[in-house]
Amino acid sequence: MADAKIIDGKAFAAGLRARVADGVAALKASHGVTPGLAVVLVGEDPASQVYVKSKERALVELGMNSFDHHEAADMAEADLLALIDRLNADPAVHGILVQLPLPKHIDTQKILARIAPEKDADGFHVVNAGLLATGQPGAIVPCTPLGSLLLIRDTLGHDLKGKRALVLGRSNIVGKPMAHLLLQADCTVTLAHSRTVDLAEECRRADILVAAVGRPEMVRGDWIKPGATVIDVGINRVPAADPAAGPGKTRLVGDVAFAEAVKVAGAITPVPGGVGPMTIACLMLNTLAAACRAAG
Ligand code: GUN
Repeated sequence: MADAKIIDGKAFAAGLRARVADGVAALKASHGVTPGLAVVLVGEDPASQVYVKSKERALVELGMNSFDHHEAADMAEADLLALIDRLNADPAVHGILVQLPLPKHIDTQKILARIAPEKDADGFHVVNAGLLATGQPGAIVPCTPLGSLLLIRDTLGHDLKGKRALVLGRSNIVGKPMAHLLLQADCTVTLAHSRTVDLAEECRRADILVAAVGRPEMVRGDWIKPGATVIDVGINRVPAADPAAGPGKTRLVGDVAFAEAVKVAGAITPVPGGVGPMTIACLMLNTLAAACRAAG
């Protein structure tokens, strides 16, 4: 069998970003409104710093305003709530993103619940999660599952009716919203996780496999149904395989053992260059959409 088609998330995301940039320019011209996203980072987590920087860079590139709030790791929860209240009340801020994870002394759910649902660019607020779960219109959809769905549709076409989809990982950020999106697309959805019995066997039944567990290369080639579409959400940093790379050198791998999976799947996202760029492009899209709704 021929190797899988490699799904080029980087190229798809570039196209989406260009369309968002056009939308930003049109909103400015028609309503004099520049979409703005407030990005809140509490503490010094190195991975979060990298993510936040690329989000801020993308905003500026697409002509949007980036309001950056980088706060000390020991910030009091009450002060973070007060910051969110100010951002909720600021008409120049159309979207608010609080980078996760937050330091342990801060109650994440309490913070997410304080964000005005219409400014919840991440789609993590219970109101948006509830709208999505109940299939109602108007939900702001979390960026990684939304980006994954766009790649699945680009690969398989719009009609996903009756396909067997397996989502591996039950997080609020990826797994659960991904399962709801696929259900809405009329897939038959299995939401699998660390306690699932016969996980490999469950995976082997899936026409669409979305891996979002954060376990490096957990999904092996023989877990995949021949011809399946594989979306790898994992971004795991592991020691470099090649000893010549030198001590301390690392590389990025997904939740899927790519070299094995590419021989079996019909199409597969690489890591990096698959889902990652789509997450940021969808955040830009959610921010633009929030600004359009606010402008009326
Ligand atoms: N941490 C890991 N992924 C995400 C994300 O998509 N949004 C936010 N706010 N934090 C994250």
